[in-house]
Parts: sequence; C-alpha cells; structure tokens
Amino acid sequence: MAAEFKPKVLVFCCNWCSYAGADLAGISRMKIRPEFRVIRSMCSARIDPEFILRAFRRGADGVMVAGCHPGDCHYIGGNYRTRRRMALLKLLLKQFGLHEGRLKLEWVSASEGEKFARVINAFINQVEQLGPSPYRKTDDRQRTPETGRRKLEAGQQTVDDDKSLITDH
Ligand code: FES
Repeated sequence: MAAEFKPKVLVFCCNWCSYAGADLAGISRMKIRPEFRVIRSMCSARIDPEFILRAFRRGADGVMVAGCHPGDCHYIGGNYRTRRRMALLKLLLKQFGLHEGRLKLEWVSASEGEKFARVINAFINQVEQLGPSPYRKTDDRQRTPETGRRKLEAGQQTVDDDKSLITDH
C-alpha cells in the first residue's frame, strides 16, 4: 500500500508583519496543519527567487511567501517588488512542469493571526490536492529524479545569469 502523502511546505515570512502574524496564530492556539516550516527574513523582498527554486529542487511540494500588506512594508516598496517577482516566477515554474498552485504570495499583518492560520491551512490543502511535487524525493534515500534536478538547475542558472528577468534592481 502506498504511503500516505504528507505535503512539505516552506513558508518565507517577513520579520515585521507576517512572522508576527504566524506567531500570533501559534500563541492563540489556532488550529493549523503541521506540514510546514517557516523561514524568517527581514523583508519579503529579501526572498531571492533562487531560494524558491532551491526549495523546489530539494523536494518542497509548495512554497508560500508572506509579507506586509501593500503600503505597509517596513522597507517602503519591498513588497511591490516581491509581487512583481512572484508573478514572473510563476510563469517560470510552469516551464519546469510545476503547477503554479504550488507557489503562493500572501499579505499577512502582525495582527492577522487568524488570517495566517486560514491561508496556510488552505494552501496546504491545495498542495495536498496537487499531490507530490515531481521533484520530490520519494524517500530519504532517493534523490530528486535526475531530469527534474537538471531542469531546475537550468532554471536556477537562468535566474543567476539574468536576474533582470525576475528582479527589478
Ligand atoms: S518588511 Fe514586510 S514585506 Fe517588507
């Protein structure tokens, strides 16, 4: 019998709003699915598209980036940059055979613990529906399939070679 699929989801949260929102959801003991891990960064704009590609290459089934609401970024326009990059990155993901639903951008403020719980639960459910990423390691001993690994490496190389594709500075 096939093992039950448990999605692996990575969430990048900006320090000033979304991480505090996630923390609030936790300390308020809201019901949140456990299949995600959070990485905190100072601003959503600090999330280099390369980090996201690397997460998929290493077997993440879904990646969510959470930042301050538009107009509230503590670094003025960081989240506007993030929004543009994420739209372009979604297009790029399709080229690698990854469903765009595996990547999500959300705005969560420090007071929106309930929103964080709602969006992360919905995102994990969505990723679960999509099934395992084609690049996922099927178990700890197996590596990401060779062709998939090469495709994502090529994508990462494209991003490295021409950052202007998905960055604007
Ligand atoms: S500090 Fe939160 S998105 Fe920039």
